[in-house]
Amino acid sequence: MRRALGDGIELDDDAHRIDVAAVHDYLANESYWAKGRPREVVERLVREAQRVVGLYDGQRQVGFARAFTDGVSLVYLADVYVLPEYRGRGLGVELIREIVDNGPYADIRWVLHTRDASGLYHRFEFGEPSPRLMERYRRDA
Ligand SMILES: CC(C)(COP(=O)(O)OP(=O)(O)OC[C@H]1O[C@@H](n2cnc3c(N)ncnc32)[C@H](O)[C@@H]1OP(=O)(O)O)[C@@H](O)C(=O)NCCC(=O)NCCS
Repeated sequence: MRRALGDGIELDDDAHRIDVAAVHDYLANESYWAKGRPREVVERLVREAQRVVGLYDGQRQVGFARAFTDGVSLVYLADVYVLPEYRGRGLGVELIREIVDNGPYADIRWVLHTRDASGLYHRFEFGEPSPRLMERYRRDA
């Protein structure tokens, strides 16, 4: 799947096109949730995801999202970002639309964690977790 968004910006779900160095650089150095994540871990996560969607300006990787799932009961949405200079012009919405609504898992349950972007996800039918959802935290958290 490739989808042009205008001005040379494009979405693509080809995992081979992901610029792992660029994604690693953002996640390890800029993100609040994956600081210090090693490059080989990012490489493995991209390789093993059921779906990744990249956002590109020409050849430049300017955004990313990753979904992993058993394909039946649950999909987890992770590592969503758009580079700062590309934010605020609707690209995040298109990135989420592509990975959540346009892919093969649109009809099953999705879960994600976010510190402050819940407004973005509300647009795609994400809501507060039900009292039935339980969570076990990392041991080193
Ligand atoms: C979250 C992020 C991907 C949004 O990308 P973006 O391209 O700026 O998003 P858009 O321009 O499509 O904005 C979409 C809408 O979401 C809202 N939104 C964007 N970031 C938001 C945030 N952090 N909190 C609440 N709403 C947010 C915008 O206000 C906009 O709503 P509007 O159209 O009603 O004004 C981007 O800000 C980002 O990479 N942030 C840092 C990383 C991060 O927090 N990722 C999410 C981890 S779960």
